[in-house]
Amino acid sequence: MSITNEPVPSSAGSAGEPKLTLYNGSTGTGRRVTVRDLALAKQRGERWPMLTAYDAMTAGVFDEAGIPVLLVGDSAGDNHLGYSNTVPVTVEELITLSGAVVRGTRRALIVSDLPFGSYQSSPRQALETGTRFMKEAGVGAVKLEGGRRVVHQVEALVQAGIPVMAHIGLTPQSVNVLGGYRVQGRGEEEAERLLADAKALEAAGAFAVVLELVPAELAEQVTELLHVPTVGIGAGAGCDAQVQVWTDMAGMTPGNAPKHAKKYADLRAVLTGAAREFAADVVAGAFPAPENSFH
Ligand code: KIV
Repeated sequence: MSITNEPVPSSAGSAGEPKLTLYNGSTGTGRRVTVRDLALAKQRGERWPMLTAYDAMTAGVFDEAGIPVLLVGDSAGDNHLGYSNTVPVTVEELITLSGAVVRGTRRALIVSDLPFGSYQSSPRQALETGTRFMKEAGVGAVKLEGGRRVVHQVEALVQAGIPVMAHIGLTPQSVNVLGGYRVQGRGEEEAERLLADAKALEAAGAFAVVLELVPAELAEQVTELLHVPTVGIGAGAGCDAQVQVWTDMAGMTPGNAPKHAKKYADLRAVLTGAAREFAADVVAGAFPAPENSFH
């Protein structure tokens, strides 16, 4: 793990504590990243990356690459499970995927989304669902969508010992109310609402706040206002951290990736090429070769 034993600056924790550099490109060895490490990174002004992951093998790759936080997002719905959006994803499905991601990693903090319908009705429902994710999947934190309307859920979870990442701006579970995937927080009134939501979530105990599809200037304002880290997706470069859906980042998503995503590889083309080469070898009798056979 990317922990060095440099003393922590006095502003970032008690003297003599090992300093965690959240990202330095490798896994190293040691303990998992904690929410406290993220708080210290904010104090140091250190930016960090976060990716989604839905299976053990891919999560293991990102963990080895040193990504400090992995999100088992309900974006698994459209990026892994074949649904058209996040709404149909169930608690059971996400617990299964989350368990796989936990087992495939050693260092990253694993955060799981609480699926649509599994926390909105009451703090008690949120606590029951969050508890299942902690006990059955072994995740280190949960994420839920919404502003002031979910602060009692956030309080109940945090008081029970379950770290909560909040998520405001575009909240995909509410796509049917929002009328599509559009930028949120435009105009004075909406911006004020978003700032008030962010403050309320921090006061309720959230350890980080995801800002999705929010104007960059507003995201910067939220980032300056909060003591906890902001995690942007389509929210400009002023956030403390950036999250991307891994299939967008690596070029697995069919068709055009969203404007806020950057394609760092063309995995879809690489896999298509490999599958075609394998198929051609089988048809031609070139696979298996003698070295792939047993005698
Ligand atoms: O489900 C998800 O992947 C998310 C991220 C886009 C933040 O919520």
